[in-house]
Order: sequence, then structure tokens, then C-alpha cells
Amino acid sequence: MTTKDERLYIVMVGLPSQGKSTVAYRLKDIFTKNDIPTRIFNNGQLRRQYARDRNTWAAEFYNPGNKEAAGLRRRFALINIRRAREYVNAAGEVAILDATNVSAERRRTIEGMLDDHPILFIECVNNDCEIVDMSIRQKVRSPEFSNLSEAEAMVEFRKRIDYYKMIYSPLGRERNYIRMDSLHNKILDERLTDQLPLYSRIRDCLVTDVVRSLYLIRHTETYYNVDDRIGGDAELTPKGIGQAGSLARFFQRKKISYIFTSEKRRTIQTAELIRSLQQDCTIVHLKEFNEINSGVCEGMSYDEIQRLKPEVYSARKADKYNYEYPGGEGYNTMKERIKIGIKKAFYLNQKPDNIMIIGHRAVNRMILSHFLYRRQEDVPYIYVPQNKLYHIVATQDRKVFELLRFC
Ligand code: F6P
Repeated sequence: MTTKDERLYIVMVGLPSQGKSTVAYRLKDIFTKNDIPTRIFNNGQLRRQYARDRNTWAAEFYNPGNKEAAGLRRRFALINIRRAREYVNAAGEVAILDATNVSAERRRTIEGMLDDHPILFIECVNNDCEIVDMSIRQKVRSPEFSNLSEAEAMVEFRKRIDYYKMIYSPLGRERNYIRMDSLHNKILDERLTDQLPLYSRIRDCLVTDVVRSLYLIRHTETYYNVDDRIGGDAELTPKGIGQAGSLARFFQRKKISYIFTSEKRRTIQTAELIRSLQQDCTIVHLKEFNEINSGVCEGMSYDEIQRLKPEVYSARKADKYNYEYPGGEGYNTMKERIKIGIKKAFYLNQKPDNIMIIGHRAVNRMILSHFLYRRQEDVPYIYVPQNKLYHIVATQDRKVFELLRFC
């Protein structure tokens, strides 16, 4: 049973592309699953809905000196603040204000208008330029930027961020706040003055790597697979194309917003066939998911390695996890980049939709070992077939780890 003093406002803070919406969705998801009525109030949505004719794609719309636009943006913020208040005083329990809220002035307005229940401010910070860049690249694909080329839209969006930086003042004076590194899910700084009923649950959610639904797939059969050759950039065989078609049908009724692949043709081809039966699905190529670099052995078959490079063959056999191919990598040296790839994928996949990664044999072993404990020496032997996929769920309430056949 909901009591009044359990109600809470959460106010997101941060520059654009710092992961605020991802965090907001994560919180909403966990609360909703625990029967805590929660709603997100997003200023950007109002702007896109009601100011479509005002060139909101243009950086100038966000220039603090542009009084007219600033007034309009303030109006949208006020609408959402009022709606949030109405919501928690009616059927709701938690209202999340999802907007930049980077100026101290805006936050004072919020505190003044939401004085009936406690407020928790959550600031998201991500200093990884590459990921911020990728996130911007995703954002400028939205219809708001449809009249610009990708390069032009990127310029406008970066300028928009610079305008927000002019009025940005990090959290520090607020009664209750958390500043977090939204890429690594780490708390940077926090202050708790009031008794916030959901605080430990929120904190726990922020620092947990939540996997709502991850489909981990290996690319389907390639010409190199047929010859048992490693590395390279081979294409799918007709059988591989057929397998990818089965995958596409398998996922036809499951919404996949993003498919993350490596930069290799075999993963991209598999992804494109899956996307052909999806609506509104974006493929993102991550170099972090490229297959293990086998250095001097690239393109060789295991048979050839045994015959022509017996020292490589036996040294790898003796300690497969720690062995590094001359001029290439080992499982041990891949670990860090795979971890970064996983972080990127989860950061970019904002909504808690299904997420899909199409990787390679060694890559998928490393990804699996990230979610499922395995002794190091067992990681290079994890089963990664081409006709089955792994489905992983790891939330605070639910753990699923299943191997499903798709053809
Ligand atoms: O499909 C073959 C492959 O992905 C190679 O490109 C890679 O070197 C190999 O599998 C990794 O598996 P293992 O570590 O068992 O040799």
C-alpha cells in the first residue's frame, strides 16, 4: 500500500548525451517491476511535440542568449514540473524529470515547485569522448535532424552541448544528490540529508550492470569456417545466409532496437539479414567486438598452424587463456576491450529493449564470461555454436541464462 511520505521526485541532471535517459529508464523499469508506479517526464519530448516549427535542431535554439527560445524551453520545463507534481499526488509514486537541468537556477525552480515530497537529484557524467560521440551520432539520426546531413547535424549537436556548458553547474548544493559515472555505473559523489524511502534500491540499481535481455549470437557460417581457417574477413556461405535467415525469423516478433556487431563482414551480414525483418533497428559496428587477432596465424587453418608453426600450436595448447599470438592477441589481452564494448553497447541502447550482440567465437566467450563466472582456464573452451544463441537476463529480480536453438 502506498503512503504519501514514500513519494519521491527524481531529477536527472547532465549535459546532453551523458546517459540520463538510460538511467531514467532503468529506474522506471525496476520500480515498475516492484509495483511502484513511476513515470518519466521528458522535456525533449515536449519540445519535439510542440515546437516542431521552431528549428529545434539548430544549436541557436539552445543559446542561453536567445531569450525567445530560452523562454519556450522554460515553459516546457514548467509543464513537466507541474505534471510531475500532479502525478505523484494522484496515482503515482515516483516522478522522474528527464532533462538537462544543468543550471542552478533551473534546479532552484524545481525545488520551489516540488516542495511537497523529497527530491533526489541524479547527475550523469561520462568523460569518454568516443562514446559521447557515438551517442550523438545516434541522436542525430532522429527525424528532428532529417533536413541535415549527418556531418551538419553533428556540428549543430556539439554546438548545442557547448551552449549547455555555458550554464552548467554541477550538483553540490542540493540536499539529496548522487553524481555518477554513467558509463561505468560508479558513484562519484553523494549527499543524503533527508530520509529517502527508496534510496538504497535506487543506489543499488545505479551501480548494478543490469541486463534486461541480451541475445548473444555468433555470426553464421563463413567460407573460412568451412576450411577451419581463423581470423580474416570472410563472407557468409549460402548455408550461413540461410542460418541468418532463420535468425531473422526467430526474432521477427521480438523488437530489437540495436544490433551491435564487430567491424567484420560476417557479423555485419548476419545483422543485416536480421534487421531485414525488424522495424526501426540500428546496426552499430564496434571495433571492440572484432575477433581475436591471431597475428602471424591470421588466415591459417588449425591444421596448418600445427604443421607450420608447431611452437605456436603447443604453447597455445598449454595455456590457451594467457597465450598471445605473435603479432596478435590472447584471450587475456582481449578482456579489457570486450568490457569496453559491453559498456558501449549498454550505454547506447537507451531504452530497456532487447539488446543483441553478434560477435565471434573468442569474443562471445569473453562476453559470456563477463556475465557468467568461469575459471579463466575454462573461458577459451566455452561452447559457442553457430545454430544456437545465448539469451541472458541479469536484473536485480531475475537471472536467466539459456541456450536456444534457432535452426
Ligand atoms: O571461427 C573461427 C574463430 O572465430 C577464429 O577467427 C578465432 O581465431 C577462433 O575462432 C577462436 O577460437 P579458439 O580460441 O578456440 O581458437
